[in-house]
Amino acid sequence: MSLGAVVLAAGKGTRMRSSIPKVLHGILGLPMVVWVLRALPKEVERALVVTGHGRETVEEALAAYGVVFAHQGEQRGTGDAMKAALPHLREPWVLVVPGDMPLLSATSLASLIGYHFGEGADLTVLTVRLEDPGGYGRVVREGGKVVAIVEEGEATPHQRGIKEVNTGVYVFSRALLEEALPALKPHSPKGEYYLTDVVSWAVSRGCAVRAWSLEDPREGMGVNDRVQLAEAVGVLRERKNRSLMEEGVTLVDPGTVYVEADVEVGPDTTVYPWVFLEGRTWIGQGCVIRSHSRIVNSVLERGVTVLDSSVVEGAYLAHGVSVGPMAHLRPETRLEEGVKVGNFVEVKKSTLGRGTKAGHLAYIGDATLGEGVNVGAGTITCNYDGFTKHPTTIGDGVFIGSDTQLVAPVKIGSHALIGAGSTITKDVPENALALSRVQQKVIPHHGVLYFKKKRGRG
Ligand code: UD1
Ligand code: CA
Repeated sequence: MSLGAVVLAAGKGTRMRSSIPKVLHGILGLPMVVWVLRALPKEVERALVVTGHGRETVEEALAAYGVVFAHQGEQRGTGDAMKAALPHLREPWVLVVPGDMPLLSATSLASLIGYHFGEGADLTVLTVRLEDPGGYGRVVREGGKVVAIVEEGEATPHQRGIKEVNTGVYVFSRALLEEALPALKPHSPKGEYYLTDVVSWAVSRGCAVRAWSLEDPREGMGVNDRVQLAEAVGVLRERKNRSLMEEGVTLVDPGTVYVEADVEVGPDTTVYPWVFLEGRTWIGQGCVIRSHSRIVNSVLERGVTVLDSSVVEGAYLAHGVSVGPMAHLRPETRLEEGVKVGNFVEVKKSTLGRGTKAGHLAYIGDATLGEGVNVGAGTITCNYDGFTKHPTTIGDGVFIGSDTQLVAPVKIGSHALIGAGSTITKDVPENALALSRVQQKVIPHHGVLYFKKKRGRG
């Protein structure tokens, strides 16, 4: 029972009103069609994707997924799309799945396949009962047996009342398709060929046609417009959050937490409301992520704390690091064990050694800081001269007084001390004190004169 899969992804998706092909619209960080590919069960030996509208972008987005592409030149319906796939099919059996059904699960598809082969059928259609069947093809039965699928636009009032609908997922024998597809007739007004017509054709030929129903009706949802896209996001978000909680993660308010598909979170980590975890983010055990923070493509080891309203992007945070509130870690930031990056601190492409602290209002860019460095409030690495970026290197145990500018390229030797308010333009050797402040002037009694003048005015 060698089985291939065909994913139909050539349609424009007119109802999305988008310049992006429908199947590439994102759901929890993955294109819609990738959810379909990931739901293909292990019984599927090879996946073929039919592309057409926005072909290049679709094929580019799927380049890493090891699929074969078939090209549908003009989008003349689902039947025509299958015609385009047929010459590329090797396997005697084919599972057809529309590219706009992101809620399907591998378990359900495996059940469909099991049922199909168990029945010895030539064609099995996956159906679902919906309270509101609007927009879907209706499954017409006679004496309990499926005899046809009728699209909504062509259904009689009686047929419209049918609540069992076509999911657009089928298992076909290739031999049946080879005969049936050339026999399909176009439907007016658009002249489209409907894959659904293969059902009545097969019945008329006395083929064994069966139907298998989805247990969870939500899996049968197709995404045709942005309202349905948002619904699909909602369902998949809930599934993801539920699996995190089952794995031991506390989501204080799962309804407001948004975790993308490939994010992993360790047990006993607590995620507060309104947190966004995105991309390839990996979070270890026992971390705390406070509200309104967004973590993208980052690694957080055990026991990391991210305080409120912080953005962490492309960063590595070692064990026990504390970030925020209101910190911004940009790509290629590396914070070693116990580092503390506090209020309104921005770090970019920099490494902070063990136990280093930058508590308040600083910019650290293109810098390497050793262990146990203290970065005073308002410290700025001036890394850009308008042409290129320059590095700053700071040794272990350095103390940088508040409101210091480090004009890069510059090196501060270990255990050096920088006086507050300094503009450092030259390297500072180890253990030295560097100061670059204008000397303070004190003019006696001038304060009194000033306040007298002020009072005189009032
Ligand atoms: C289709 C079914 C309908 C079913 C519904 C389930 C037909 C005629 N109708 O309707 O019975 O209830 O799915 O969601 O099949 N595509 C192509 N090339 C084309 C046209 C479409 O590749 O020329 C692809 C689309 O990219 C999409 C899929 O086929 O991924 C389904 O097409 P769509 O237009 O969404 O079909 P529906 O109107 O939803
Ligand atoms: Ca659809």
